[in-house]
Amino acid sequence: MMGFGARRRRTIRAGAAVGAFLAVSASAAAADSPARPVTFSKDIAPILQAKCQECHQPNSIGPMSLITFQDARPWARAIKERVAARQMPPWHIDPSVGVQKFKNDMSLTDEQVDTIVHWVDGGAPRGDPKDLPPPRPLVTDNEWQGVRDGFGRPDLVIKSSEYTMPAEHQDVWYRPMSDIPLTQPRWIRMVEIRPSSLKARRTIHHSIAYQVLSPDNVAAVNTGVATGGFRQQDGVDLVNRRPQIMEWAIGKGYDRFREGTGKLLLPGERISWDQHIHAVGEDILSGSELGLWFYPKGQEPTKRSYLVGFTGIDRSKMLDIPPNSLAFTEGFTVLKENTIITNFQPHFHLRGKAMQVEAILPDGSRQVISYVGNFNFNWMTNYIYDEDAAPAFPKGTVIHVSAWYDNTKANRNNPDPDQWVGYGDRTVDEMAHAWMNVVYLTDDEYKALVEERKARAARTTEQQQ
Ligand code: HEC
Repeated sequence: MMGFGARRRRTIRAGAAVGAFLAVSASAAAADSPARPVTFSKDIAPILQAKCQECHQPNSIGPMSLITFQDARPWARAIKERVAARQMPPWHIDPSVGVQKFKNDMSLTDEQVDTIVHWVDGGAPRGDPKDLPPPRPLVTDNEWQGVRDGFGRPDLVIKSSEYTMPAEHQDVWYRPMSDIPLTQPRWIRMVEIRPSSLKARRTIHHSIAYQVLSPDNVAAVNTGVATGGFRQQDGVDLVNRRPQIMEWAIGKGYDRFREGTGKLLLPGERISWDQHIHAVGEDILSGSELGLWFYPKGQEPTKRSYLVGFTGIDRSKMLDIPPNSLAFTEGFTVLKENTIITNFQPHFHLRGKAMQVEAILPDGSRQVISYVGNFNFNWMTNYIYDEDAAPAFPKGTVIHVSAWYDNTKANRNNPDPDQWVGYGDRTVDEMAHAWMNVVYLTDDEYKALVEERKARAARTTEQQQ
């Protein structure tokens, strides 16, 4: 699947390049011409600055710095491998199926991948240091992703108390409560959870901020989805009714709600945390912080955004992954309202391999929403759909999540392929769901959106002819 996707993208890009021949970048031209080798100073440093150094610098989360030639040169072979396999940067969504446009795409272009591959194949030369771009400012702290991406500082930060995880210990679920110091209602437009320090980023596997509601905020309870199986009562999905401000897991950034939608916080409400902490061989004090960016007063949205964990497991059956084997499960959730889906974040533990989310429409047609074919446990990347690309479905649509697991030694994250693996909350157990934010539309709103999108698609086709 990946191979096909990469080939198809390449063909499209090559076609576009014919029309824009004169605009072909210097590095791409250099890659094809033996006259000028691809060098670190001229061609590679700008790519590393733009797409890698945020994480690959001394105080960030990457295992090594990729700032100077001396930093990067010993890693040349690994860089080529990770980049060509599209494991790095950690953007693992298949670009050949489903939604194609995202708000937070950090992937490399095909040209950038080619340039890196040519550089390594050509002996990874340094080139002339005079060609280096000006250095990028370094990270010295545990900064919010939202701040790094230019959204400014959060309006309010709520911290959990902290817990000392011993060097060696079983997994811990740490569930303190925090007050929300608000004196008036506020609508959230963007939210981010971060571990309380760079060190804490190593131990916190996931952190969920549940909202303990005021009785005046009943509309925060999501009644728009129904899942089969256990924890379910009369067609009501109890798991997804519990209001959450956000779920964060290793490698995730922020959630930015669709324009004109958000979550309402009322004075007197509280945060109930669910933090999954994993021992890493060193005593580490860790907690979570919730950053909230509000809509300005007077610009309050009219719609709620709800977080749903669409299950990839039919909960009436057991999840049963024998040692040294591959396994597959699937789950089905009914949308009881017309629904826009605004993002996708696949969630598995260590044996997770691939996840596909598909819509089965009331007319029986099927549509793939997103597919991640090379899931990596270290990266619960949140793929946020572009405003216009966020798919919308009529009520009665079934969201079908397919999940594949690799419990063999071919899976690099597998701690023990000789273990039987079942469903559970520990990191060594398994689970599968797609975290997606949804917004519900009335029939009129849904019809208007479909018409508007049809008209736009027609205009685009006209322009292309
Ligand atoms: C969002 C943060 C982030 C970005 C962006 C990122 N990396 Fe990484 N990278 C990491 C982390 C964390 C690891 C270690 C965990 C892992 O292997 O997934 C890693 C691992 C690697 C490794 C493997 C190192 C080893 O121990 O073998 C290579 C090579 C690498 N990155 C290269 C790159 C390159 C090249 C880019 C840019 C094109 C890039 N990374 C972008 C965070 C990042």
